[in-house]
Amino acid sequence: MNLVTFLTSLLAVPCLAVPQTSTAASRASTTTSFAAQFTVPASADEGATLLPNIYDPTAADAQAECPGYNATGVKTSSTGLTAHLTLAGSACNVYGTDIHDLDLTVEYQTDKRLHVNIRPSHVSSQNQSWYLLSTDYVPAPSQEDGKMTTSDLTFSWANTASTGFGFNVTRNSTGDVLFSTTGTKLVFENQFIELVTHQEENYNLYGLGEVIHGLRLGNNLTRTIYAADVGDPIDMNIYGSHPFYLQTKYFEMGNDNRTTLVTQPVDSNNDTANYTSSNHGVYFRNAHGMEVLLRSDNVTWRTLGGSIDLYFFSGPTQPDVTHQYLDVIGQPVLQNYWGFGFHQCRWGYENWTVTEGVVDNYAKFGIPLETIWNDIDYMFQYRDFDNDPVRFNYTDGKAFLQRLHDRGQHYVPIIDSAIYAPNPDNQSDAYPTFNDGNDTNSFILNPDGSLYIGSVWPGYTVFPDWLTSSAQAWWKNQLVTWHQKIPIDGAWIDMSEVSSFCVGSCGTGNLSLNPVHPPFKLPGEPGNIIYDYPEGFNLTNATQAASAASASQSQADATVTASSTTVSGSSSSTSYLRTTPTAGSRNVNHPPYVINNVQGDLAVHAVSPNATHHNGVEEYDVHNLFGHQILRATYAGLLAARPGKRPFIIGRSTFAGSGAVAGHWGGDNMSKFYYMYFSIPQALSFSLFGIPMFGVDTCGFNGNSDEELCNRWMQLSAFFPFYRNHNTLSANPQEAYVWASVADATRAAMAVRFQLLPYLYTLFYNAHARGDTVMRAMAWEFPDDPSLADADRQFFLGPSILVTPVLTQGATTVDGVFPGLVEGTDVYYDWYNKTPVSKPTAGKNTTIDAPLGHIPVYIRGGAVLATQQMAMTTRDARNTSWSIVVAPGVDGTAAGQLYLDDGESQDPNSTKTVDLTARMGSLNVTVTGDYSGLDLPLANITILGVQSAPPSNVVKINGETVGNSTYDSDTKTLFIGGLERSLGGKVWAGNWTLS
Ligand code: NOJ
Repeated sequence: MNLVTFLTSLLAVPCLAVPQTSTAASRASTTTSFAAQFTVPASADEGATLLPNIYDPTAADAQAECPGYNATGVKTSSTGLTAHLTLAGSACNVYGTDIHDLDLTVEYQTDKRLHVNIRPSHVSSQNQSWYLLSTDYVPAPSQEDGKMTTSDLTFSWANTASTGFGFNVTRNSTGDVLFSTTGTKLVFENQFIELVTHQEENYNLYGLGEVIHGLRLGNNLTRTIYAADVGDPIDMNIYGSHPFYLQTKYFEMGNDNRTTLVTQPVDSNNDTANYTSSNHGVYFRNAHGMEVLLRSDNVTWRTLGGSIDLYFFSGPTQPDVTHQYLDVIGQPVLQNYWGFGFHQCRWGYENWTVTEGVVDNYAKFGIPLETIWNDIDYMFQYRDFDNDPVRFNYTDGKAFLQRLHDRGQHYVPIIDSAIYAPNPDNQSDAYPTFNDGNDTNSFILNPDGSLYIGSVWPGYTVFPDWLTSSAQAWWKNQLVTWHQKIPIDGAWIDMSEVSSFCVGSCGTGNLSLNPVHPPFKLPGEPGNIIYDYPEGFNLTNATQAASAASASQSQADATVTASSTTVSGSSSSTSYLRTTPTAGSRNVNHPPYVINNVQGDLAVHAVSPNATHHNGVEEYDVHNLFGHQILRATYAGLLAARPGKRPFIIGRSTFAGSGAVAGHWGGDNMSKFYYMYFSIPQALSFSLFGIPMFGVDTCGFNGNSDEELCNRWMQLSAFFPFYRNHNTLSANPQEAYVWASVADATRAAMAVRFQLLPYLYTLFYNAHARGDTVMRAMAWEFPDDPSLADADRQFFLGPSILVTPVLTQGATTVDGVFPGLVEGTDVYYDWYNKTPVSKPTAGKNTTIDAPLGHIPVYIRGGAVLATQQMAMTTRDARNTSWSIVVAPGVDGTAAGQLYLDDGESQDPNSTKTVDLTARMGSLNVTVTGDYSGLDLPLANITILGVQSAPPSNVVKINGETVGNSTYDSDTKTLFIGGLERSLGGKVWAGNWTLS
């Protein structure tokens, strides 16, 4: 090998030859689209042609070819066991080099949590020649001293003659086998680990994200877990990595009190049997590229490295499993109250004036707006921490943000993951953010120690090396310094998979071309016009649809003509790159086992697997963690920039535990009704992942939205924790005020959201304090109804609010169920007219009127809700008087809770908890804590479901006659008004009783 070839082989490349033409950058303002400049060739983002193993008919079957392991030297103790696992025959080396000796450690960590770890024996803390996921990045709790008395879980194992070592995890209280590898072979190689587990027919698994899919994952799906920058394809790997599942088993209860596992779907309308259910959870703590194969009678885990690090949670309810899982990965961060206001964003607000114009329009149309966001448009040539000097200069920006802050509004800009690498031949291209990071060794390297240089929006870029403390310090410093120039209120972290628009270190040797254009057209650039519209647009907007269709057709015709010569030369047979294991070494760029990655080659549209961190770790081993690490670094940075204030962060790529610092948005969906539907299962999955602060690009990101879709979507997202409208560059505007009917629908849904904000905030507090879920699946609230196993077109917000949205184009009614209503265990009240919902006449389905502009929302009986009123911001809403809604359950009682604090302090110095309980004729309020900021007047109390006028209309609070009451026999509500002066005008100042 000559020197040049040798040096090139050390780069994380193939490095593309690119013509040496350059445009000089200057500090003049940049527009939102790209100026004439060198374009990275499209071929730069092409990887090897690979055939995913699951589609390869010739692929080796590790179960058939490998010998498995035998356990020896088993030592049991009061807290678990250890054993040695030895390869039970000759190495198979199917997709890597077999590891001959493994150590098994089983630990009963709490009475509900079991940990099983299998790792190579040669790995010890002194000699880590094997990548083990560090607890610096992802917690791995061990036994909680003194907390484990007896475990509800039992680990049992056996060596069988044909398959060797296998194990079962059984739940003692129910006798259920939760996880069983018995009769299957363990495969443990340096680039491939396989664990096959048995499953009963028609099993119910949830989680394993991030994926666009229905809530219940079904029994025929391969869940690839490999963080990818890709706009929301269905059933493929996208941004986040969550190797966790919840499993629900339903049992039919027989007359003899025996239960039988339900293995067939249950039809709610024709079923009178009694059921029960139990849940458990499994977390595979491994950050490597991974696949989980869900098949009819088994689930197979395959990873490209690391160790088997399994946590089992015995449940047995979904809330139990979620609490147990979040105890391991971390509870969700406490959100700012203002974070629950409405957020408006888009790619394409091209300067401060346009941005402020949007804010003004919201005010003009009387639609509350909490936060305005800027996308990459604000940056100087798409560089982080650097505002465009003309379009988004700091002086005007500061003044604008001051105006926002004065009105109680907020500002959140995007921050990208890649850092521009300036053109060394152009002095005026200097970029201090890069220099500071480079001087402190904060960027990821090539294997030869040179900088790894990929390409993202600004041109050729480098990437922070989060495994170094210097990168953390540098990032924090950037945030603090930039915050002094522009006092942002939070951060939106993008492109963190981590995305790079070329394969390998394509910028190496090419920096003199910088700033270069990405290897594809941006939305709106010539030849890349958005013609797509929601389903049914041709029915609702025939003329506009016809002209869009013809424009789209003529563009397609032009494309076909231009490419016809290339097509005629192409060959129909594809040859795939297949690699075979080499003893003792890894092929990280092309591992022998090919996961079904949405981008194909692992290096496509991402930093290459052989990019190298300063501590020697290859990107291959930590790829799925970049998004998590940048969120943690940003949390530290914002806390330093705004001491004492809770950092507000929304990120794209997440890992198990990211919820402890940030929320997530389901990025880059499409303006389609079916993507609006998918937002519900996606949100519910993120409830399971401990990231309750979730919402999607409301009205849709890719493609043009339209009036009907945006109307429905603005209403649906009003019931998601994170409520943001966001749109791609050059698509038609879709702010809530663009269409009169959307503005009306938005105000109507926001009115409900604002009243529920104290309830939502309390739910989040309980998520933070004890791991409760906020958005809840029907099945979790009604665990004994198997017909809800895959219900994901309706959802609960906390325990008490049921949302049944219209999700199809053209519909004016929606079918939904009211779980427990037919059975008589539950009662519901229409949010709007407060009337109890009548039982359906046949079966359980109810057809609900839902004309455009109306989203059906119900209060589930048994709740006491303390509400405030809508205002233009949450700050102003927090200053409105309180109301109380009592919605009794079937037994006539109701209860609710309220958590109050200043809504923004990282560590509030005073808080208050209010417990509200109601029973026939009385309401009791008990106050704990001393936060007094929300001790405002009580305006009224509405009691729902009151069957007849009360015998007396005297209302007393603490024995004193107050207010006045009116009974409405049509709606069965009792309204008690005129309470403003009662309780000294401070409703939560102390305990009280109303009778
Ligand atoms: C990708 C993000 O997902 C999207 O929300 C954003 O608008 C673009 N990057 C441009 O920054």
